[in-house]
Order: sequence, then C-alpha cells, then structure tokens
Amino acid sequence: MMSGNLAFIHRFEPGNRLEAPPLLLLHGTGGDENDLLPLGRAVSPGSTLLSPRGQVLERGMPRFFRRLAEGIFDEADVRRRAHELADFVQAARAQYGIGAPVALGFSNGANIAAATLLLRPDVLAGAVLLRAMVPLAQTPAVDLGGKPVLIVSGKTDPIVPTGHAGQLATLLSKANADVTSEMLPVGHHLTQADVTIANGWMRAARFQERRDVVESARRSG
Ligand code: MLT
Repeated sequence: MMSGNLAFIHRFEPGNRLEAPPLLLLHGTGGDENDLLPLGRAVSPGSTLLSPRGQVLERGMPRFFRRLAEGIFDEADVRRRAHELADFVQAARAQYGIGAPVALGFSNGANIAAATLLLRPDVLAGAVLLRAMVPLAQTPAVDLGGKPVLIVSGKTDPIVPTGHAGQLATLLSKANADVTSEMLPVGHHLTQADVTIANGWMRAARFQERRDVVESARRSG
C-alpha cells in the first residue's frame, strides 16, 4: 500500500499473527521503503510491516537525517527528523489500526531508531538496532520503562567508530531499556547471523503493549 495522506512515502504490509508486534522498518543510506521488507518477514514472520522512506537526500540517496560527514551528524536535524518520524508512526497507527511497533533499523535507520527511542519513547515498543551508532552527543533524560532493545554490531565495521556499540548499550541501559548486545565478527553489511539473532530475540522479548493486546483479545474472545 502506498502513502495515502501520511507524510512519508511508505509500504504497509498487514501481518497475520496477533502476538507478533508490528515492525517499523528503517533502511540504511541509499535504501528505500522496499529494502527491508524481506528482512522484516524473516526476523518476525507474520508481523505487520510499516516501512517508510527517509526524507533526506544525500547526493540522491535517501536517509533519515542529515550528516555533515560520514559519522558526523547534524544533531538538530536528527532531533527534528526523529520527531517527524514519530509523528508519522502515530498517524500510521491511527490510520492502519496497529499497536506500537518495534523498530528494526539498519545503519542510518538504526541511528534514527535509537534517536526516536530517546526522544519519543512512547512511540516504539522496542528496537532492533543493526550496526548502530550513538545518535546524539547529549542523551535526553528519559525512562524507557524496560523496553526491549537488541543491538547487533560488527567487530570490523569500518563505518561505526570503535566503542559506539558499547556506549549505545550503556546509555540505553541507563535509560532503563532492557538491552541485549551482540558483537559479530563481521563488517557493516548484514549477515545471516543478524537474521538468526534478531529472530530468536523477537520471539523471546516481552513487549509490553503487545502482551496487553493479546491478553485483552483473549479476555474478550
Ligand atoms: C549514518 O550516517 O547514519 C551512519 O554513518 C551510517 C550510514 O548511514 O552510513
């Protein structure tokens, strides 16, 4: 399904498994709304998929926020775009009648997912952050209330500076997220191991809102 009156060009694919939370798919630099659909289906079969295209163009390549150079972010833009993405998610939830999604982001998509978690925590039920960096120099004071977050990083990643994966895990844990971190012996590109880890984690994680929805469906059914 295409965009309707929602602000981001996006794909929406309804799921068929009530207990699987919706996924918000966030592509990397140069990707688009189609890129992560296969990944989303593999990581959480039966989940509803909501997949926007980043609205910033860098030499024609879509992204979710501006950067000044590789690895140096325009933080004012990160903040503004995280709020725009959060507003889109809220509008899409109302339009499609879905619960709070779990973000599944790769690279630039993982970075906007982390920023959105920190700036608009109510919008996401949790996050899978693949090859993520610390998105903001100043972490906002926020309580993530035990939301599950998975961080999967590459030991030889040439794009994510050394130490960022650990710093991100620490700051999200301090913000009271339930963080699981994995370091793979790989670079920036995704591998089958990412899919396997994310799939296992999705099945085990306890997402607050989904549990409530399933329980209330059980009570009324
Ligand atoms: C970013 O700009 O978000 C990161 O450097 C990752 C990337 O998109 O290359």
